[in-house]
Amino acid sequence: MDKIGVIGCGYVGLVTGVCLAELGNQVLCSEVDGEKVEKLSLGVSPIYEPDLQPLLAKNLSLRKVEFTTDFNRVIREASILFVAVGTPTTTIGTTDLSQVNGAVDRILSMATGEKIVVMKSTVPVGTGSKLSRLFSRKRSANISYLSNPEFLREGQAVRDFMTPDRIVIGGDVPELIERIASFFEPLKAPCIRTTSTNAELIKYASNAFLATKISFINEIANLCEEVGADVSVVAEGMGLDPRINNHFMRAGIGYGGSCFPKDVKALKQLAGHNGYHFELLSAVIEVNEMQKMRPIQKLRRHLGRLYGRRIGVLGLTFKPNTDDVRDSVGVDLAKLLLFEGAHVTAFDPLGLEQARKVLTGVDLIEDPYLVAEGAEALVIATEDPLYAGLDWERIRGLMAKPLVVDGRNTLDPADLPDGFILEQVGRRVKRIISECGEVGVAQVGLGTTRRVS
Ligand SMILES: NC(=O)c1ccc[n+]([C@@H]2O[C@H](COP(=O)([O-])OP(=O)(O)OC[C@H]3O[C@@H](n4cnc5c(N)ncnc54)[C@H](O)[C@@H]3O)[C@@H](O)[C@H]2O)c1
Repeated sequence: MDKIGVIGCGYVGLVTGVCLAELGNQVLCSEVDGEKVEKLSLGVSPIYEPDLQPLLAKNLSLRKVEFTTDFNRVIREASILFVAVGTPTTTIGTTDLSQVNGAVDRILSMATGEKIVVMKSTVPVGTGSKLSRLFSRKRSANISYLSNPEFLREGQAVRDFMTPDRIVIGGDVPELIERIASFFEPLKAPCIRTTSTNAELIKYASNAFLATKISFINEIANLCEEVGADVSVVAEGMGLDPRINNHFMRAGIGYGGSCFPKDVKALKQLAGHNGYHFELLSAVIEVNEMQKMRPIQKLRRHLGRLYGRRIGVLGLTFKPNTDDVRDSVGVDLAKLLLFEGAHVTAFDPLGLEQARKVLTGVDLIEDPYLVAEGAEALVIATEDPLYAGLDWERIRGLMAKPLVVDGRNTLDPADLPDGFILEQVGRRVKRIISECGEVGVAQVGLGTTRRVS
């Protein structure tokens, strides 16, 4: 049986390694971060991802998966090397390939015999062709290259890996593509066998399309606020058309995370470098940046200058069910509020440890009620159902002013106690008033108050 090597034990590499082991393979994972390897070798996942921990512990105890900092050992022992290192963005929006190049250099210098390098990392279109040429020049080893972009979503990565929508494998040699496809055979997913260039572009185009959908519905939401429509109803009505569908149709305060922002920028840059101005993506990026500012504008509308105001942020990860705060809107928002001179407190159920590494000057608190205490406004930045389940009666008693900017439309106005002013996305601002024992909702315009049934 081929031993599989996985290079990089982040969100993608660790899930790939553990899931491939679960599928019956012998897997050896390498990671440069010694602390991560120490934890992993004890069966403790260094990242939070639902279902990952028990799967890791099980396959470690069965000796189906192993972790090491010794990259050379992985190159020596494994014939198939899945590369899952980070490809962050540079300050000018291009892809930082230093981790990929570091791994490739090691493979080039250490590999002997037959090796198949399978690129799981998201790399710019054309990388596969370049690396294939580079590997083919090495005489002392027979190194082949395949592209196998990953589509898993953090927060449900194990489920996505085990029940994928599709597998994409790009390369020049059909027999090698089949060899890699056989590892995914048990997953019974449609498999696209194609060139590495197509595979690379499928990944970028998919993420860019989803980001476009988000920016589109966010602009519709902004329009809804102007004309008095409700974006949830509009999105529902649109989404019933199967050509549109209801996925990625939830309006909010912008997309974030380690993939969408960087992949959209990278695709725009890639187009530019190839002489094509991808105008639509410029708009998608700009809309997203503006969308992140909207909670600030809404806060200013109610509170005036934010200098010295105490504002609480609920949600720092880029989505629920993850501890990943990379490029998250909650973190950006906390920074923007600090920039405005506000006193910022923040809560997140899973991301506080990661947030501590990137946020200074924000009081990071493990209790959402303490975040509410004395706050003149709360901003909900993550679409976490947890927030709807909080005791809002208690929160109203704790806050200095009962203002909530719900950036993800997580709260049902009917569940809020009297007195709250609720700013949502794609709906007009509401003041909660109960009448005759029933909760009524009044829409509050700027300067005017209208009562609605
Ligand atoms: N996170 C996602 O949801 C997701 C989804 C699909 C695709 N991707 C892509 O997958 C790739 C990995 O993403 P991630 O979120 O897992 O990144 P990550 O930063 O969480 O993990 C990368 C890991 O690789 C390690 N590493 C770097 N160089 C190494 C080397 N030479 N040897 C061994 N380990 C090394 C790093 O220490 C880190 O732990 C990226 O290209 C990303 O765009 C990510």
